[in-house]
Amino acid sequence: MSDDQDNGQDTGRALPERGLPAERVLGDIGALRAGDRPTHGGRLFAYVYDPAVPGLDELAAAAHASSAHVNGLDPTAFPSLLAMENALVGAASRLLGGGAGTGAPDVVGSVTSGGTESLILAVKAARDARPDVAAPRIAVPVTAHAAFAKAAHYLRVVLDPVPVDPVTLRPSAAAVAAAIGPDTVLVACSAPSYAHGVVDPVAEIAAVAAEAGVRCHVDACFGGWTLPWLRRLGEPVPPFDFTVAGVTSISVDLHKYAYAPKGVSVLLHRTPALRAPQFFAYADWPGYTMVNPVIASTRSGGPIAAAYATLRHLGEDGYLRLAAATRDAVAGLADAVRGTDGLRLLAEPESTVVCFTSTDPTLDLFVLVDELTARGWHTQPQLSYADLPASVHLTVTAAVAPRVAEFGPDLADAAAAARAAGPVKLPAELTALAATLTPDALTPELVAGLAAALGLGGPGAGLDGTAADGAGGFAPDATVNALLDAAPPALRERLLVEFVGLLQRPTY
Ligand SMILES: Cc1ncc(COP(=O)(O)O)c(C=O)c1O
Repeated sequence: MSDDQDNGQDTGRALPERGLPAERVLGDIGALRAGDRPTHGGRLFAYVYDPAVPGLDELAAAAHASSAHVNGLDPTAFPSLLAMENALVGAASRLLGGGAGTGAPDVVGSVTSGGTESLILAVKAARDARPDVAAPRIAVPVTAHAAFAKAAHYLRVVLDPVPVDPVTLRPSAAAVAAAIGPDTVLVACSAPSYAHGVVDPVAEIAAVAAEAGVRCHVDACFGGWTLPWLRRLGEPVPPFDFTVAGVTSISVDLHKYAYAPKGVSVLLHRTPALRAPQFFAYADWPGYTMVNPVIASTRSGGPIAAAYATLRHLGEDGYLRLAAATRDAVAGLADAVRGTDGLRLLAEPESTVVCFTSTDPTLDLFVLVDELTARGWHTQPQLSYADLPASVHLTVTAAVAPRVAEFGPDLADAAAAARAAGPVKLPAELTALAATLTPDALTPELVAGLAAALGLGGPGAGLDGTAADGAGGFAPDATVNALLDAAPPALRERLLVEFVGLLQRPTY
């Protein structure tokens, strides 16, 4: 950023001595944004959800601005927000087997800031519904989202991991049953899992949970807004919603496949009684009595209004069209993988994910990811875990559809280049270090040294190791992934915590 206003010293500081004109401020943000991965254009397969609908961004931004200063703290002060929240919850409920129809469950819900908050609240509600259990536990498939582990950690609940079949990548109902004990307050499953896009056997798992008298949460954060449309399009989507008797709560993120801007998820409960322990109220202080359905107290109306506008603008017909485009894109990308020597789909696509692995030791997936990045395709590497190999994840959205024909040739080209470059060769002492170092022995200095040696630590570095092209220019990212891959999970966690600690430093 150039400076013409702040004594020649402004490098983008948030609080300059003298305020800057609006155009200058926006120009500076634009300059910062130029170093980001592309949020639009159908070439980024994680983090963003792009329907490529002309005018939608502008509509959502206008709606966001209209309610940005409205506060969700008190639903009686801002009835506009309450009305929009109730409408969003109603839409999600109707899509997922609730609703006003005869026989449908009396589903209620809350709008949260995202999938993680929805899952934390599902766990809190389950925990607080069982004050008789001194040391509550939750049974969660290992393929379920890491936010369950975060919820368990925050809420001091023990997480019992349920193994999955290494081929189907699904937990069996028997494995879930085996994980349920007298202190289990919640069973979880995914529809679908983020990593592989696989839908768990929800009906069987919910039956096992119901039999044990335990709540069953379906994490449909990722797929709850696509599976119903895919089913309407004739795809074989198994039952996963409130039409399944034992399902007690469902989460669905509107900032994913409902294509709303970030900051909106819906947590649904089958009945008001199931939701009640989710709420927090406090009157034992001299200020206003606080009643919070969700974690945040003050909440901006912006994301809620933006989501409301997005849903109303796209409508059922729009989502059906977008789901059809996404389904076709998934099929095309999966074909490209099938047609590339040395690659194999880790799971047959059944939702909106394409996930593949390497079957050829000379074709290093992490090198392939870098080669794809160099060709403008931003994929997400996934490290090996237990008996599951490392893989490459593609979250596919409607914007990808027009790009699919370009992907196959680039994938083949990238694979050839990755083979020619050969697998990452970590220095032997580094591999040994990764395998033997204990997380406690990892000092900030050691991580700083490692980061420096690997060329990491500035803007644009990807947490997953992938470089942001443009301003960042971080290299060599396959090396970082190879190093992380060689380390056990506890060490990966510590390394990345220290690394993010290095990144998150104030600028003056
Ligand atoms: C299945 C699933 N659950 C939960 C989450 C967490 O959502 P968020 O990142 O909005 O907190 C994700 C995010 O990808 C997800 O895919």
